Parts: sequence; C-alpha cells; structure tokens
Amino acid sequence: TAYLSVLGGTGLTAYVALTRVARLRAGEDVFVSGAAGGVGTAAGRFARLLGAGRLIGSAGTPEKVTYLTEHVGYDAAFDYHAGPAAELLAAAAPTGVDVFVDNVGGEQLGAAIGALRLRGRVARVGTISQYNTPDAPPVVLDHTAVVERRLRIEGFLVSDHRDAQEELYDFAVPHLRSGALTADETVIDGFDRIVDAFLLMLRGGNTGKILVRKGD
Ligand SMILES: NC(=O)c1ccc[n+]([C@@H]2O[C@H](COP(=O)([O-])OP(=O)(O)OC[C@H]3O[C@@H](n4cnc5c(N)ncnc54)[C@H](OP(=O)(O)O)[C@@H]3O)[C@@H](O)[C@H]2O)c1
Repeated sequence: TAYLSVLGGTGLTAYVALTRVARLRAGEDVFVSGAAGGVGTAAGRFARLLGAGRLIGSAGTPEKVTYLTEHVGYDAAFDYHAGPAAELLAAAAPTGVDVFVDNVGGEQLGAAIGALRLRGRVARVGTISQYNTPDAPPVVLDHTAVVERRLRIEGFLVSDHRDAQEELYDFAVPHLRSGALTADETVIDGFDRIVDAFLLMLRGGNTGKILVRKGD
C-alpha cells in the first residue's frame, strides 16, 4: 500500500512541497495544515527525516491532534476548530515558522503569513477548506508582511514533478525498510464503497491516506 500513499502521488506531493517548492533546510521550523491527512502526514514524517526543526500541525479533531504528536512526530498540533487560527498558531509556534505546507488555504493561510519569519516560504498544495464552501469569505492576507518579510508563496501541481519520483524512492524506501518511516493509511473495505470513501475523506473521516481495498 505504500505505493499508493507515501511512495505514490500523495508522498510525491509532500516531498515536492518540502524539497522543490519550499526548499526546506535543516533546522527550519515547519507548519503543516491538514496535517493528519495523506499529504499532511507524509509532509510531517518527511520533514522530520529531512532534518526540520520544530514541526507544528493542524487538524480537525482532538484525536487527530493527539495522533500527530504521539505517532507522526509533530512537536505541537492544534484543532483548527478551537479558536481563531492566528491565535492557535501563535500559541503553538510562539517564535514563528520558516516554512508553511498549506493543504487547506482559507483562514489558516492568513494566519501562517502572520507567523512566517524573514524569507519564509509557503508551498501552496491545496484549498480543501473552500472546496465545499465556495461562498466562504475571501482569505485575509497581510500583503505588507509578504513584502517586508520577503515571503515567497508558490503553488504547484504534482503532475509537473513526475521526474522527482525516483528521487522520492531513493529518499523514502530506505527509511521505510529501516522502520524510520511509516505509511499512515485509513483502509475502507469494498470496491463498492469508493464514493463513500471519497466523501469520508472530504469530511475528515480519514487519518493519513484513504485507500479502498477490493475484496481479498
Ligand atoms: N497540488 C497538488 O498537486 C496536490 C496533490 C494532491 C493533493 N493536493 C491537495 O492537498 C490537500 C490534501 O490532500 P489529501 O489527498 O492528502 O487529502 P487529506 O488531507 O487526506 O483529506 C482531506 C482532509 O481535509 C480536511 N478538511 C476537510 N474540510 C476542511 C476544512 N474546511 N478546513 C480544513 N481542513 C479540512 C479533513 O481533515 P480534518 O479532519 O483535519 O479537517 C480531511 O481529512 C487537498 O487540498 C488536495 O486537493 C494537491
């Protein structure tokens, strides 16, 4: 199953976000939104293996928050329903962060701009906070901070980075074999439950990559 999660398009998205878009350097502090999902768990585990400093994640339930700190290797995590994102992030990362891997957009993107340090980078992965709420209010971004702190906000599509696949295998497979890397997965049984599984993922019912297992 790792070929569908940490070694597949999900893992490649996390790897490209950290290495090619954010260009993470050892010791840098990283915030990941949607941290308990497929891309988010891979991003946290990869960031740790790449030598990141403090890792902060956000997710949608207290159980996921606990999972992030107890299993995935995040140093701090918060439930984004628990208050204004800017306040929750400031409490979890009082001295700021260098890199933001943004899976959700929306309010958390605005909060992260406020928390990024000089020459901070945002890897814009996705906007799931707005897929089901197209009428959501526009994101409030501190444009002045982007200039004064020389921030870089860059979106990307993993389909433009297929050439990084072998590099991902070289990086991740030895860690999988040694046990330093674990694939986080939620498995749903039954080919006929594909639609249920997809909707479950959109509603936050998954931890790690959601997979559908077809019979035996
Ligand atoms: N750029 C690319 O090439 C690329 C490639 C793959 C994926 N993506 C994007 O990356 C993101 C993550 O994808 P994934 O496949 O790993 O999915 P995922 O994170 O495993 O699943 C989606 C998660 O989004 C969270 N969510 C749902 N509604 C939300 C809301 N209103 N605000 C914040 N979080 C919400 C839920 O977790 P909670 O319980 O934490 O809310 C849910 O588990 C998505 O935005 C996806 O479109 C982009």
